[in-house]
Amino acid sequence: ISVLLLNGPNLNMLGKREPEVYGSQTLDDIVGHLEKTMVEEFGGSLTHFQSNHEGDIIDAIHQAMGVHDGIIINPGAFTHYSYAIRDALSSVVLPTIEIHMSNVHAREKFRHHSVIAPIVIGQIVGLGADGYEWALRALVRKIQSSRL
Ligand code: DQA
Repeated sequence: ISVLLLNGPNLNMLGKREPEVYGSQTLDDIVGHLEKTMVEEFGGSLTHFQSNHEGDIIDAIHQAMGVHDGIIINPGAFTHYSYAIRDALSSVVLPTIEIHMSNVHAREKFRHHSVIAPIVIGQIVGLGADGYEWALRALVRKIQSSRL
């Protein structure tokens, strides 16, 4: 099983960025833990890509077609308005889980709406860095059950 993890704008700042909201782990810490889980528990592989640029995220989604079995995405603020990222995810028809570290529903109103949500399997919201692990476990289970 091969999973693509995508992180959108400002997530490269994790650890330094609003630690009271996003915790103290860096993106490298989170990705390192996830890679380890993927290899040791599932014998699979994880590819990670972070970008602050919408078009680069869209290109990475297109390139996942035929290469990866599923996608985990934290689109950052693009969550709330990027129809282009949503359309890219719809185009590649790979099972996708959306994750947000913070509880977006307890924050500003503009964060309550996700334009991505209608086309993903589900969302993981508000569980901090652990959310990435739950997203991985859920996605792997989905992929495995689709192969039975
Ligand atoms: C976020 C929530 C978004 O509203 C915000 O713009 C982010 C991070 C989260 O992980 O909680 O950049 O996606």
